[in-house]
Amino acid sequence: MKFSGSHILSISQFDRNDIERVFEVADRMVPYAHRERVTKVLDGAILGNMFFEPSTRTRVSFGCAFNLLGGEVRETTGFETSAIAKGESLYDTARVLSGYSDVIVMRHPVSGSVAEFAAASRVPVMNGGDGSNEHPSQALLDLYTIRKELQHQGRSDLDGLRIAMIGDLKYGRTVHSLCKLLCLYKNVTVVLISPNELKMPEAIVEQLRQAGHTVQESDVMEGSISKVDIAYSTRIQEERFASPAEADLYRGRYRLNQSIYTRYCEPNTVIMHPLPRDSRTEANELDNDLNDNPNLAIFRQADNGVLVRMALFALTLDVADQVDKAARDVNWYTERRF
Ligand code: NCD
Repeated sequence: MKFSGSHILSISQFDRNDIERVFEVADRMVPYAHRERVTKVLDGAILGNMFFEPSTRTRVSFGCAFNLLGGEVRETTGFETSAIAKGESLYDTARVLSGYSDVIVMRHPVSGSVAEFAAASRVPVMNGGDGSNEHPSQALLDLYTIRKELQHQGRSDLDGLRIAMIGDLKYGRTVHSLCKLLCLYKNVTVVLISPNELKMPEAIVEQLRQAGHTVQESDVMEGSISKVDIAYSTRIQEERFASPAEADLYRGRYRLNQSIYTRYCEPNTVIMHPLPRDSRTEANELDNDLNDNPNLAIFRQADNGVLVRMALFALTLDVADQVDKAARDVNWYTERRF
């Protein structure tokens, strides 16, 4: 794909070379994200960071990525404080706000809304999550993390990957985008573990099968996670249910902790989660007793999010090859942060 000036709305836009390009640029962002070097390549550029759904890490990570490239971030959060609460259409909001920014990141509770917004925008728009539909930057950072974790174990190839996805696969947009992304690779085994009512949408399962992948579906976790490289846990997406009581029916159904991990998983199985993990006792999908497990990659995943989002900005705004030219070493204390 041509990155320069493009919207990033769905994983379907990417081919395998595009993914390699994103990962290669992300790798080059390490000294900047680790505060060894500073770049001013986006000096003067403005990001409109528009989040109409709760978010901590995605919003801050996009903002931080833009700052690390030297740009300024302008935040709009919540419907209550925006003119959308006065009945303004996405079209009008996009026409106006795209005049105030060089790039926009948007999260919105309605599937397809970010694409609708992008159609009226004068600047590139990145999808920070649209309802239960997609979360492309998360899938990219997830795959980037998978690749790094496997490289750490001495494996260089994503083909032949075995991954279990656990939890709310019906509403979880991160796993929807990740499955689409895995379709670009070969011979992947995808174990889908969810309550019967929260299964992965049939169209996505079909896409995986069309890609030649092995798909197994189950409603029990123990036993189904015994032969995988990656165990990817997800939160019950309570905000998508008709009532909290309905979400309560499924919360806590799958809880991975150290003793289950030791008993059922292979010793190198990497544990992932897009975060936030629901740590309330009634949910507790990833127990705190995993915090010292070296294969718990959830915080490395969040760190990698900044690298991948820096790469997306650098490519979309066409400065990927200028980052190092506008750079210097940092002069403040930065040790042991990463
Ligand atoms: C996810 C999301 O918003 O879809 N969070 C995130 O962006 N890292 C997952 C979730 O909220 O459960």
